[in-house]
Amino acid sequence: MPEVAAVGITGIGSYVPDKVLTNYDLEKMVETSDEWIRERTGIRERRIVHPDQATSDLAVIAAEHALKDAGIDASEVDLIIVATATPDMLFPSTACLVQNRIGADHAGAFDLQAGCSGFVYALSVGSQFVATGKYKRVLVIGAETLSRITNWDDRTTCVLFGDGAGAVVLERVTRGRGILASCLGADGAGADILCLPAGGSRLPASEQTVAAKQHYLSMNGREVFKFAVRVTEEATRQVLQQAGLTVEDVDHLILHQANIRIMEAAAKRLGIGSDRLVVNVDRYGNTSSASIPLALSEAVVDGRIKDGDCVVMVAFGAGLTWAASAIKWGHG
Ligand code: UT7
Repeated sequence: MPEVAAVGITGIGSYVPDKVLTNYDLEKMVETSDEWIRERTGIRERRIVHPDQATSDLAVIAAEHALKDAGIDASEVDLIIVATATPDMLFPSTACLVQNRIGADHAGAFDLQAGCSGFVYALSVGSQFVATGKYKRVLVIGAETLSRITNWDDRTTCVLFGDGAGAVVLERVTRGRGILASCLGADGAGADILCLPAGGSRLPASEQTVAAKQHYLSMNGREVFKFAVRVTEEATRQVLQQAGLTVEDVDHLILHQANIRIMEAAAKRLGIGSDRLVVNVDRYGNTSSASIPLALSEAVVDGRIKDGDCVVMVAFGAGLTWAASAIKWGHG
């Protein structure tokens, strides 16, 4: 096999809309309670876009922060990957809109759709271009406006989701640092468990699909829950084995921020204490592809994640999909 370069995160940024929707606000919208939402999910509040904001607007701000953090200009970016399940429109890609807005004049751009696993998938895909020497700088963004595909009359889903974006710059790093291993998984047999039924080629948007609310996210929460705990444990063990590490080596476990109960159950099965879990689901809810880069960004900015720390990120979502990445933080 040809020698590949070590690739890592050299810049990171995030953005959430300023509008806060609390559990108490939701109590006025559907039959629910702050107590039910907190106990079953760990969520207290989430951020919601303003009517004139779309996914690309959040992605652009997160991307600009990441570029600034990396100390590079947008014109130096070779490739942009936007992981999203809520693009501005079906086409063109949100990545192209971001490319234009940030002035990344020399970059290719495409969207990657892997449900809530999108960012970790995109991290793995983007890193291949840098590892092989094809590209020097890849911008990977996870951005979502789940509030746009949420049925605000359905208490079983509307309490769960929020909007936000996170972005990273991938470049070559010193050997031994950066992404040590990654793994991707899919099981399309579970496609119906979590999906947006209408608006695609199977069920084009029509008066009937709108009347039947098929343009909103549909989910069997209990099935997703069971799947999530199982694959989170399996993917964590798999990526650690590939990286030649054990659970004892993990300094920070960043799981998809869907539900605190899923995170704690998976961490318990792995024997990883809650003190090593990075959690922000309480403040942002489930932001799908944005959840892991948002959590990573916060933990880096507040100094929890330090140079040389071992960070493991694991996501699961629609597809069904799952993905994991083990990183030795820093680029030194
Ligand atoms: O990114 C991946 C996306 N999805 C997920 O990660 C979701 C994974 N699943 C979950 O997080 C959980 O399954 C939920 C939070 C969605 C639901 O929690 P649960 O403990 O599995 O509750 P449940 O669905 O078994 O519902 C228990 C009860 C039901 O009432 P009955 O049948 O026992 O009378 C529901 O109707 O809670 C009721 N319920 C609610 N009550 C108050 C469901 N949603 C609500 C609500 N407020 N918002």
